[in-house]
Amino acid sequence: MSTSTLVIALSKGRIYQDTLPLLAHAGIVPQDDPEKSRKLILDTNQPEVKLVVIRATDVPTYVQYGGADVGVAGKDVLMEHGGEGLYEPLDLRIARCRLMVAGRPGANDSNTRLRIATKFVNITRRYYAAQGKQVELIKLYGSMELAPLVGMADAIVDLVDTGNTLKANGLVPLEHIADISSRLIVNKASLKLHSQQIKTLIEQLRQAVAQQGP
Ligand code: ATP
Ligand code: PRP
Repeated sequence: MSTSTLVIALSKGRIYQDTLPLLAHAGIVPQDDPEKSRKLILDTNQPEVKLVVIRATDVPTYVQYGGADVGVAGKDVLMEHGGEGLYEPLDLRIARCRLMVAGRPGANDSNTRLRIATKFVNITRRYYAAQGKQVELIKLYGSMELAPLVGMADAIVDLVDTGNTLKANGLVPLEHIADISSRLIVNKASLKLHSQQIKTLIEQLRQAVAQQGP
């Protein structure tokens, strides 16, 4: 890839779908469909802009190490990653949800040490440490809602949008940790190297977000 190429990292699914209209506003249109193509680097209508489509949790890592110049990642993923080496100039206001403690009603009332299942172990450790509470953490990679049902954990820390997943499993939201939306992230060295290209992209995306409404 030429040194003037700008690489944008996205994840498949809701972030890709919700970012497409914002990129279109910035004049960037992918030439391949990541849901169909096996290619890992996708061309766009602009010869100097490429997309890489990767796992949501890998987006901050690619941008941190310069594998991509910019990326789109959920605030949950950024909080869990830590955000080192990343500049976070814009809230894209897409993929909005809440990060919550959830469980059976009253699951967090007990005075004994809680056992929490989550994929957000760093966030969860920090959340309880700030309250001076010790908890036992079980790291999972998905379907956290199952853990309390099979008696493996007292509660979970997970994303909640409509609340339907919790409800379908007899669980309730217990504590709000953070409001979540996806953010534009930029590699700090890229910001100097591709200064004009990235500033223009940020401005165009900012306008697209404003036009999206509340
Ligand atoms: P990975 O593939 O790395 O396991 P994932 O399956 O969590 O990631 P997605 O489900 O596409 O990836 O979620 C991407 C981002 O979208 C999350 O990091 C979060 O910010 C947001 N998100 C997740 N679930 C919801 C939801 N139900 N409603 C709205 N936004 C959500
Ligand atoms: C997310 C999250 C919850 C669910 C919450 O999972 O992990 O399970 O959404 O949404 P709700 O409150 O509207 O039910 P997702 O649908 O992304 O599944 P996946 O991560 O397994 O793809």
